Amino acid sequence: MAKMWQGRTNGAVDKIADDFNSSIQTDKRMYRQDILGSIAHAKMLAKQGIIEKEEGDILVLELQKILSDIENGALIIDLSAEDIHMFVEEVLTKRIGDVGKKLHTARSRNDQVALDIRMYLRDESNEIISLINELIATLLKVADENKDTIVPGYTHLQRAQPITFGHQIMAYAFMLLRDRSRIQDAVKRMNLSPIGSCALAGTTYNTDRDFEASLLGFDGVVLNSIDGVSDRDFCIELMSSFATLMMHLSRFSEEVILWSSYEFGFVSLSDAYTTGSSIMPQKKNPDMAELVRGKTGRVYGNLMNTLTMLKGIPLAYNKDMQEDKQAIFDSIDTVKLCLSVFEPMIATMKVNGENMLKASNDGFINATDLADYMVKKGLPFRSAYKIVGEIVAYCIKNKKTLEEMKISEYKAFNDIFEEDLYAEINMQTCVNKRVSKGGTSVESVIAQINYVKGLL
Ligand code: ARG
Repeated sequence: MAKMWQGRTNGAVDKIADDFNSSIQTDKRMYRQDILGSIAHAKMLAKQGIIEKEEGDILVLELQKILSDIENGALIIDLSAEDIHMFVEEVLTKRIGDVGKKLHTARSRNDQVALDIRMYLRDESNEIISLINELIATLLKVADENKDTIVPGYTHLQRAQPITFGHQIMAYAFMLLRDRSRIQDAVKRMNLSPIGSCALAGTTYNTDRDFEASLLGFDGVVLNSIDGVSDRDFCIELMSSFATLMMHLSRFSEEVILWSSYEFGFVSLSDAYTTGSSIMPQKKNPDMAELVRGKTGRVYGNLMNTLTMLKGIPLAYNKDMQEDKQAIFDSIDTVKLCLSVFEPMIATMKVNGENMLKASNDGFINATDLADYMVKKGLPFRSAYKIVGEIVAYCIKNKKTLEEMKISEYKAFNDIFEEDLYAEINMQTCVNKRVSKGGTSVESVIAQINYVKGLL
């Protein structure tokens, strides 16, 4: 069949080359944005008198019909079409004849595809933001339930200081808040309409780009037509935000995997979000968390893919750019999938506070507090630090915790120690003394929860 773009050429395109060139498998998912864009275009053409008002009405009506036909299954997208733009135009022309052929006046597939992607990404970004909000809401709940659940905080994966589990969970809530705002920022910059840039140079027709942009919910238009059809930096910004989001989910997953191991025993995942082993009957594997961690790689890869694809192409449109969609769509699908499984996995996870407390009690994580106690009694911090180090070594040798040491044993190290030291190194006290802004005390964690709640 002759191609719509066959002007200069008339030889048939080789079958393999034709398949190679086709993007409909990927871009068919933008059918809705493509049709809505065309409806706005038809309205603009009619308003400006570039086509007759009646022609505009016919185009709008039939485009609406095509949209609902695709949506209710009456019209199946033909995968032998080159791309979604060609498919819609072909159907339109088949149905209404010559009027259909007028739709492509004062536009090009170059600005059309740039428009469709922006509209599609705007919609998908909103969905992703809702999923992030749901996850943050779940984290707030878990944090609230565990605002006084004591757990060791780690540095270098070595027990460091007592914190609350709620405090740790809130750290992720803040990261996700920033992920959300990075996406919102990217959408803000992206939300300018490229349509009307045409092939690259603009057009001789008396178009109204601002009108068309406002019909489609854009904040304005891209002010340089070459820029409008040449760049995909908005894909890169979004993919970069998604990569950072996945990095956060991946770290969180790594912790869930550690916490749910026998060695930690801090949380138990619901059966609904674990799998068994085909050979080892005792196993309960945190596959969902592992997959989130694993899929992070492809989201990073998609970003690198698009950066590399764009780096060497001259302005304006080049066919290389057709590759943008596979990358960004895959990132969107992966991020949505990961958020959709991560949220209920966390919501249904059982927190084993007893094991957390047990781990807190045998890692000398109150050693800093013991040093602080000596400082309050007048010793310089470095001296206190050294003495406490010696006490810890003594405890390890004698298989004792700091709480189990007798006051006489303490006094052998330094006679500054009094009975009141025990109250200072009590885990609950250690946590609740950390009242500095953002710290781990219950009141500080409550303040954090309330702050984030206000932003949801
Ligand atoms: N399928 C193409 C893409 O996704 C649409 C733009 C085609 N433009 C062109 N001049 N061949 O990039």
